[in-house]
Amino acid sequence: MTDRSILDRAAQDILQANDRGGYTVPNGQVYPFQWNWDSAFTALGFATFDRDRAWTEIETLFSAQWDDGFMAHIVFWRDDEGYFPGPGVWGTNKKIATSGITQPPVAASVVRWLYESAVTEDEKARAAALYPKLAAWHDWFEDVRDPDNKGLVVSVHPWESGRDNSPEWDEPAAAVDISGVEPYVRRDTSHLDASMRPTKLDYDRYLAMVQYGRDCGWDHKKIATEGPFRVVDVSMTMILIRANRDLLALAEALGHDADAEKLRARIANAEKGVAWLWNDEVGAYCSRDMITGKSSGMITSASFLGFYAGVVSTSQRSLLIGHLERIGRKISYMVPSLDPDHKEFDPIRYWRGPCWAVVNFLVATGLANEGLNDWAERVRLDTGALIEKTGFYEAFCPVTGRGTGGGDFTWTAAMWLHWAGRTGADQAQ
Ligand code: GLC
Repeated sequence: MTDRSILDRAAQDILQANDRGGYTVPNGQVYPFQWNWDSAFTALGFATFDRDRAWTEIETLFSAQWDDGFMAHIVFWRDDEGYFPGPGVWGTNKKIATSGITQPPVAASVVRWLYESAVTEDEKARAAALYPKLAAWHDWFEDVRDPDNKGLVVSVHPWESGRDNSPEWDEPAAAVDISGVEPYVRRDTSHLDASMRPTKLDYDRYLAMVQYGRDCGWDHKKIATEGPFRVVDVSMTMILIRANRDLLALAEALGHDADAEKLRARIANAEKGVAWLWNDEVGAYCSRDMITGKSSGMITSASFLGFYAGVVSTSQRSLLIGHLERIGRKISYMVPSLDPDHKEFDPIRYWRGPCWAVVNFLVATGLANEGLNDWAERVRLDTGALIEKTGFYEAFCPVTGRGTGGGDFTWTAAMWLHWAGRTGADQAQ
């Protein structure tokens, strides 16, 4: 067997080992439940060898959807002492226990991809059955997270971004009152090296935000308009724009004409709204605090998701490519989660420097869509090289390639199978 087929096999084994029957856990020890955007990426990995299982991953996730369309970032199918904060801390009081915050909506894009590559009629029927659920989640975003109809999306917890500990959240989170945080014991630092994880102060703030949500009975409208942390996250925003485009393609294919009309208007509004995130001083898209109006001024891997959303103008394009070139000269592996020229850059600490295969995939997809094929390929090959060198880690140091966070990670294995581990020949298929 070639190295590549050994890795293919190992990646499949990881997906199967982390399969808990209808859903996968990102990593059995550190993350023992179903995570929202992880499952979407995981479906792409399953689709390379078991398409039925790929659909099931998404269907299971959506079976925990709330009546108002909300989709939680974690579904606690069974309890596990090894994780904090568990279902009791969230206190969402739903029949199926979930967290009370959401995560980037990658699912519609994945369902579109599965639909368009469908082999059987049954697969198309599964897409059709998922469509109203996806549409309800996207409506929830518009209704609850864009109350003033500005074409933006508010995030109410750093964990919603999926880039949990990005320094973009430091300043907005510092304003959160932590005086009422109840005593707690973290679990993450018993599984992982503390130097790679968020600090105690970060964790206190995370918990204060969870308590706020729980204390107001997870009234999402209130949290989005009065909550202590309200940030327009560049990754959530860009991923949602792209997801709305993909949902539109599904609406058109499945004959949901009224929805298609609504989605076109929503996308046009978001294309205007997103201008608020462009920071002229740094020449990039950055997240912005909704409460203070302040831009983070930080270039992160998410800054390059403008391509994925299809919102980058010609002048922005050259500025963003300039940043890619500068960053690419500084480190060995693209795309670091923070600009290596930024003072907060830490190549091994969570979302403050390391590279993530899933973000790389989204960035590269956007670059390829814009015809920036050399850059798309650089990002893909770097991702493959990191996995070949180190294994299927949660994330990787962009300087040395060392693995960071948990090992045998589901979404890294999925990204190898679907994208990073493919040769030129099978990519064309
Ligand atoms: C961490 C990541 C988040 C991911 C989760 C499970 O919280 O920051 O993006 O969904 O782990 O892998």
